[in-house]
Amino acid sequence: MVASALNLAAPAVTRSLFQPDEIKKLIELYAATPLFHNTPEWIIRDNPYRRPVNSTAVQQLDFNTPLKRAEILGANALAAHRMLLNIYETDLIFLPASDFTGKRNDFASYYSNDNKLLGELIRPTLEAHVFNFLKDEINVTGRWSVEALRSYLQSIIAKHEQSELEICNAVLASADPERACRSLLIQVAGDFLSEASASSRNILGKYGEIQSELFKIVIDDYGYGVHPAKHSTLFENTLSTCGLVSDVHAYWQFYLSSSLALNNYYHYVSRDHSKYFQAIGAIAVAEAMFSHSCREISKMLRTVFGNTVDTYYFDEHFHIDAHHGRMAFDYVVAPAIAKHGDGVIPDIVRGMEELQLLTSISDDDLKAQIAFSDAVGSLKIPAHQIHQRILKGRLRKPNAIHVENRGQSLVTQVLDQDKLYVVESGSLDLVIGHDQSVRLDGGEAIVVPRERLHGIAVVSDECRYQTYDLEN
Ligand SMILES: [Fe+2]
Ligand SMILES: [Fe+2]
Repeated sequence: MVASALNLAAPAVTRSLFQPDEIKKLIELYAATPLFHNTPEWIIRDNPYRRPVNSTAVQQLDFNTPLKRAEILGANALAAHRMLLNIYETDLIFLPASDFTGKRNDFASYYSNDNKLLGELIRPTLEAHVFNFLKDEINVTGRWSVEALRSYLQSIIAKHEQSELEICNAVLASADPERACRSLLIQVAGDFLSEASASSRNILGKYGEIQSELFKIVIDDYGYGVHPAKHSTLFENTLSTCGLVSDVHAYWQFYLSSSLALNNYYHYVSRDHSKYFQAIGAIAVAEAMFSHSCREISKMLRTVFGNTVDTYYFDEHFHIDAHHGRMAFDYVVAPAIAKHGDGVIPDIVRGMEELQLLTSISDDDLKAQIAFSDAVGSLKIPAHQIHQRILKGRLRKPNAIHVENRGQSLVTQVLDQDKLYVVESGSLDLVIGHDQSVRLDGGEAIVVPRERLHGIAVVSDECRYQTYDLEN
């Protein structure tokens, strides 16, 4: 029997079904799927199945050990989160807006049993790799009651509602607020364009009154079946009035790993139903905090884009999520505790804490990316000085030589150490965003700090360049 051979009676041991080297091969096989190859363009238009994972980088990475907190914005995290979102989203339906016939093979490949089964085999390893650090970071202790939980949540919300959103301040303080604002919208687009899809996993099955209460929140997000009122449709309007396209994952290449982590977290706790109580904790805190966040983001959008931007997505959430926050606590969380006992509270608290931690990591990551984006033009000067020291033999660093042609396939990456790029001949663009790049001609150099997302596009027939690994 297959079941006994695979020991399926013990779900917690899925990872040990395979040896680490076997898992590594399966991950490499998954990453090598043609659908996930690098793309010819930075923006992926109207094809929700093309999702590059950088298979060359994946081959050099090991995913068998959980990342530490200090490692969660590195190359491993980006690759693992890209694969995880691809795996989770095979449960969701995506269709292109046009030319289905031309994309039918991609559609069939993305939803194929081969893709789904291979994804399932590697999912627990990838989840442990990127999410296990939360167990070390968050320790839920003490005796909890529903009253203690209510006042804990109220104190979180009160503090949040008195704060200005740091991420909005960072956007407004940027050298290019429009660019920074678009960057923020891109980071949330992965989630908002299929809003509430992960939560909808929790309305299946049969578990009593609270299931129907949760369903009310989800149907609000789905606009009660009126497509123009569906929250994802409202967000499409925001994107288009800010000069962005609203195709699902059009800006896949520019998602930061921390943004993918937030999106993946909802799937992580909602797909594995043993994490149900974590999921409702995360939903309760997210709904309760989103109201104020949306008010601040709406104001920021107005300041940056003036009257031309459609802020209705955020204005709608400012109103409805204050209500959803109360619904989630009073009609889902509190009744769940009353019915299933105080023993479920630590899981609920864990969900609340983990979501807040991932949100703050994501905000900090985006702030750092905006700062990099603002400063990238000035990074040629220190790069030139470092290169001179290398040429004079005063500095020795491991290096690699690259020769690439125009038309090479494209993929963005983050690196675990600062990297010096030196162009010897030809020209390349260091690409920071879909709307930002820095040209490097022969003799020019630049330093890219560790953990900062960037891509390389050769813009001459051939380009020969060197890279040096610097310290962090
Ligand atoms: Fe919503
Ligand atoms: Fe909501």
